[in-house]
Amino acid sequence: MAELYQQFFALLGALVCLSFLMRCLKFLKYMFPPALPQSFFRSMGAWAVVTGAGDGIGKAYVLELAKHGLNIVMISRTLEKMQKVAFEIEETTGRQVKIIQADFTKNDIYENIEDNIKGLEVGILVNNVGMLPYPVPCYFLNGPDSDTNVINCNITSATKMTRIILKQMEQRRKGLILNISSGVGIFPCPLYTLYSASKAYLVSFSKALQAEYKSKGIIIQVLSPYGVSTAMTRYKQTDILTKNANDFVRESLNYVTLGDETFGCLAHEILGFVLKLIPLWILHSDRLQKKFLEQFSDIGRNPKNT
Ligand SMILES: NC(=O)c1ccc[n+]([C@@H]2O[C@H](COP(=O)([O-])OP(=O)(O)OC[C@H]3O[C@@H](n4cnc5c(N)ncnc54)[C@H](OP(=O)(O)O)[C@@H]3O)[C@@H](O)[C@H]2O)c1
Repeated sequence: MAELYQQFFALLGALVCLSFLMRCLKFLKYMFPPALPQSFFRSMGAWAVVTGAGDGIGKAYVLELAKHGLNIVMISRTLEKMQKVAFEIEETTGRQVKIIQADFTKNDIYENIEDNIKGLEVGILVNNVGMLPYPVPCYFLNGPDSDTNVINCNITSATKMTRIILKQMEQRRKGLILNISSGVGIFPCPLYTLYSASKAYLVSFSKALQAEYKSKGIIIQVLSPYGVSTAMTRYKQTDILTKNANDFVRESLNYVTLGDETFGCLAHEILGFVLKLIPLWILHSDRLQKKFLEQFSDIGRNPKNT
């Protein structure tokens, strides 16, 4: 019996070492990503479509992809912000920019979007638009009832945009789709329940779709970043873990051929690995939730009272 136990623990140890080694190899790939040819992104097609493109991570994508030689379709809510970004792109890169104003919390916007991009050779789609139901953590019932808006903005938008654009990618057997999920989408995250669940949808949708379409030459990747300093995070001070949007996007574009799922940058890849080591029962414990809420004062416990 003692011998059996010994063998069991030796096997367990070997498995843990193997998984650790595999993880180290993965980190190495992020430290030394494969050099993509200069024309890689442009070779996907002439145009890139980015949702939520007027600010934050979406704006960083359009600026970066224009530098790579793509014309840009910006789809977002505030016209003035997009006009400013479009002006910057046209001035600095000479690329064409098409602006489509749309509110992704609505469902009746897709016919107009489809009409507006008809005839464009879309090589890249970035499903970036997303919203937090409430800026601080809180219990589901204590948050505002913005369920439909969150589902439309975080889930329906990526699904519908993919349906519109994937067809032509399939015909050309070429294309890149980047779906922006979140680090809190890779595990059921209490106090961000709706947001976390909506982002988990993107992970599952993306990975299953990649399995369907990889043989057709299309790259579909889901990105699950943690902190990026934008309006959504109230422009949190950047540090080793909180990235500037431009730096985050520039780094994440180096990893598009590294597989169907990434955290988008090495720092978040390491943070994600560490968080995955924490058992879910600890992350889901009442005590931890209460501690977390305390950090965000009484607002998180009952924002309706504020
Ligand atoms: N920042 C982070 O730390 C972080 C971490 C993980 C994941 N993410 C994800 O990354 C994506 C981008 O986040 P971000 O931080 O860049 O956000 P952001 O700074 O708030 O920018 C979001 C952009 O999307 C647009 N937008 C928001 N709601 C919209 C709607 N209903 N219809 C059309 N456009 C809308 C905004 O329009 P306006 O110009 O009108 O404001 C803005 O241009 C989101 O999916 C978010 O969930 C962010």
